[in-house]
Amino acid sequence: LADAAFCAALPKAELHLHIEGTLTPAQKLALARRNRHAMASMTLEQIEQTHHFGGSGSPEVDLKQMLDCYYGGIELLSTRSDFFDTALAYLDQCHREGVRYAEISFDPQAHTSRGVPMADVVVGLYEALQYGRATWGVQAQLILCINRDRSVDSALATLDEAAPYRECGWIVGLGLDSNEAGNPPSKFVEVYRRAREQGYRLTAHCDVDQVDSVKHIWQCIELLGVERIDHGINCLEDPDLIEQLRQRGTCLTACPTWRLRDPQPRRVERIRAMLQHGLRVTINSDDPGLLASGTLGRMLPRVAAHGRFTRAEMAQFCRNAFQGAWIDGPTQAAY
Ligand code: HPA
Ligand code: ZN
Repeated sequence: LADAAFCAALPKAELHLHIEGTLTPAQKLALARRNRHAMASMTLEQIEQTHHFGGSGSPEVDLKQMLDCYYGGIELLSTRSDFFDTALAYLDQCHREGVRYAEISFDPQAHTSRGVPMADVVVGLYEALQYGRATWGVQAQLILCINRDRSVDSALATLDEAAPYRECGWIVGLGLDSNEAGNPPSKFVEVYRRAREQGYRLTAHCDVDQVDSVKHIWQCIELLGVERIDHGINCLEDPDLIEQLRQRGTCLTACPTWRLRDPQPRRVERIRAMLQHGLRVTINSDDPGLLASGTLGRMLPRVAAHGRFTRAEMAQFCRNAFQGAWIDGPTQAAY
């Protein structure tokens, strides 16, 4: 079996991580004080209380509650330095936990819609990536996530605004996140078509146990042409879909994360089943600041113990992540 020391020593990669979801209550309070935000008048305990979501009994409502907390904290990020500091704190943690490579998602619309310039978001994040690489040798790339509960026009305008950063290679991929109910992948066909033309690598969320999840996963591969699916656990309900994902080598970025009210890792048996089906499934922390599971390095030994995973299985999750990573050419040989 894979013990904590084995998990710590594994070279790790993280493909599903929202930078806005890395903010812990303490980080939120520090940003609120610095930016003179109303949250500065709250105590740390009061902010921690807002992180107690979920457990409604409905996966849709739980996701909505989680997103309310997530987007409630997002307005603490407003300057280039806020983005730089937040990304650097995450990369520092990667370095300490043996995460050698990370693909970091960010939600530009949630910032630009508040008047934060796209340049401050992207340049702040990208400068942290350069600093992290130079200081710790941790490699990372950026994924621009479209908020699926906003309009297609807003998504297309966001692609236009981000085009200069895509052209110079500062953004590697496009994702799709936020509230899935009523916002199927099929809504974004035109957005994905344009992004593909601009050279983006493509992924999209199909969150766990959402209505029509299987249908959404099919839409992602057939209509959007994604190479990866974020979550995608419900593929297990359709044998034809499993076969299709296996043949395509689609990477599925699963998150066995747990909330404050959950005593244990979640979704572990389904993630094991995905591995046993030969799917390219990986383990990720998603929103380590919001979720009790925390960072990848902290979560992995708990998942290994709870699922009684062998060393070979834990290593396979990590190998899958490096294989699913959007690294081209000679860099990949380093892994
Ligand atoms: N699902 C959808 N949107 C998100 C998530 C998630 O898990 N985390 C941050 N934005
Ligand atoms: Zn996510």
